[in-house]
Amino acid sequence: MAVQILPSLLAADYGALAADITRAFRSGADALHLDIMDAHFVPNLSFGPDIVKLCRRVEPEFYRHVHLMMTRPDLYLEVFANAGAQTIQIHVEADCDLHAELPRIRALGVRPAIVLNPETPVEAVYPYLALCDEVLVMTVHPGYGGQSFIADCLPKVAALRARAPHLDIMVDGGVNAQTALDAVRTGANQLVAGSFLFKQADMASAVSALRAACDAAAC
Ligand code: DX5
Ligand code: ZN
Repeated sequence: MAVQILPSLLAADYGALAADITRAFRSGADALHLDIMDAHFVPNLSFGPDIVKLCRRVEPEFYRHVHLMMTRPDLYLEVFANAGAQTIQIHVEADCDLHAELPRIRALGVRPAIVLNPETPVEAVYPYLALCDEVLVMTVHPGYGGQSFIADCLPKVAALRARAPHLDIMVDGGVNAQTALDAVRTGANQLVAGSFLFKQADMASAVSALRAACDAAAC
């Protein structure tokens, strides 16, 4: 399974956002990860649908992957679909009916995905696996970039890979060349990285370093 690398725009330079979107696109990364925070589900605010639209305008070919850290993501699905989201991830801990909302995401022409927080047991997502194309295992407590990878979350990746070999399994938070190797060895095939990619002058080299780690994991 080819590994995808997704820079998280949360770590970009907001004074040069358009340039950083282009820098990420040209780095050889596979898609852009957009972190939406509501200051309720997580103790922080980030940005909203206008930034998703900006990404579509600046680099229309760069796939837009939207992570909704929101208590009521169901109220914003159309908004983000219309803004250009191509995958929408909603949390299993959110206050909405996932049996209804995951099919609604698909009906909007968007790829549905489910997310679980570090403290949430993997069994919590099992009832929804047939309704989504991807599962995101958070490897930090959501809300901020630049935190350390929680390796204790990796057994969840292994359990999901064994149970649903066809699904994309993503990790998000604290990903660098070393933790990427561990995650891919355990069964992840999508890696979100914010600080590790955006905080380097040469993002293409950092993407290559992650790809080299993934290749090493395959050996
Ligand atoms: C955390 C976000 C992550 C974050 C990752 O709430 O979901 O996507 O941007 O940032 P790093 O890679 O810096 O841990
Ligand atoms: Zn994220």
